[in-house]
Amino acid sequence: MLSNRIQKLRPSATLAINARAIELKKQGIDILKFGTGEPDFDTPEHIKQAAKQALDEGFTKYTTATGIPELKAAVADKFKRDNKIICAPEDVIISVGGKQALYNIFMALLNPGDEVLLPSPYWVSYADMILVCDGVVKTIDTRASRFKLTAKMVEESMTPKTRVLILNSPSNPTGMVIEKEEIIKIAELAQKHQFYVISDEVYEYFLYDGRQSFSIGSIPEMKDWVFTVNAVSKTYSMTGWRIGYMTGPREFIKPISSLQSHSTSNPCSIAQKAALAAITGPQDCVKKMVTEFEKRRNFVYEAFSKIPGFKLDKPEGAFYAFPDISDLKVHNGFALTELLMEKARVAVVPGGAFGEEGNNFIRFSFASSMTDIEEGLKRIKEALT
Ligand SMILES: Cc1ncc(COP(=O)(O)O)c(C=O)c1O
Repeated sequence: MLSNRIQKLRPSATLAINARAIELKKQGIDILKFGTGEPDFDTPEHIKQAAKQALDEGFTKYTTATGIPELKAAVADKFKRDNKIICAPEDVIISVGGKQALYNIFMALLNPGDEVLLPSPYWVSYADMILVCDGVVKTIDTRASRFKLTAKMVEESMTPKTRVLILNSPSNPTGMVIEKEEIIKIAELAQKHQFYVISDEVYEYFLYDGRQSFSIGSIPEMKDWVFTVNAVSKTYSMTGWRIGYMTGPREFIKPISSLQSHSTSNPCSIAQKAALAAITGPQDCVKKMVTEFEKRRNFVYEAFSKIPGFKLDKPEGAFYAFPDISDLKVHNGFALTELLMEKARVAVVPGGAFGEEGNNFIRFSFASSMTDIEEGLKRIKEALT
């Protein structure tokens, strides 16, 4: 008999679609995939070299559970340099991807019945992590403001049970960015009503049109209320290496360290050395990738605007386009995804996989080559017109 906890997990909404894509591929049918959540670039060479060196030097044993001191120091420097977040290396925890950092935080924060405000559409793992940690998901519908969360929306959604608010800017799946003025107002609400904020900044460098990121953790008065989560996964095209990191209020650091030491212990020693090279090494590889993604974003935006029935707000960050399909005959994201798979041989993700507010949308990832993007959008247009 499964535990009550594990039974709360919901089956992945995209499992059947992925299975179908694999089946068609096996039959030799050429499916173009736009469902991925990772850059299509290779991990930069100097990062791979650092991992090879770690191996050659026999850096293959347990490390401190929360990460090697030099990586924690590099992350603390990075927080100061790029985010204006002031924290000591001891306030940093290195985890197995951003995912483990988030999971640890929910485990440390939530008691049964605590409410978590989750702007929707949302990255699906938040909801399942919250459920497994006995929390209650309270979504905030952001459709009316082009998916851009405002302080007013937060204020209207708060209840006395609100314990945490999640910010994910730039957002997966919508590609939208929360405005700085709103973040400042949200910080005021958090202090006044004493709730925590988890700021997931894994897409922070994927910003277009010269936008700058703003971290809520940089507001000095928020020191006791913000957890900042990030990872090398997307920034350096290192999704498989599994290195994420976080900082947060000091009282949580030791308990979270204990939790991690009793679950996974340290993240992979070799991957930590690679992450150190990534964070402290040359950053032009990031700029190059983001420049390429901005070109693709521009192309995807233009192309969708020429397909009747699609309404797309220009993505401001991340690498996802999230067009509204409510004017199409097939206006349910799951149904359209199926149709595109069968008729256009194109795999996308139904918006409903990111909460019911996404039902009339699809997510199209532009972390694919320009050639595939051009061909994929051509196929979508032909299939629907
Ligand atoms: C919004 C968001 N947060 C966190 C993560 C997890 O990143 P990681 O691969 O470092 O665990 C992802 C990955 O898709 C994501 O989209």
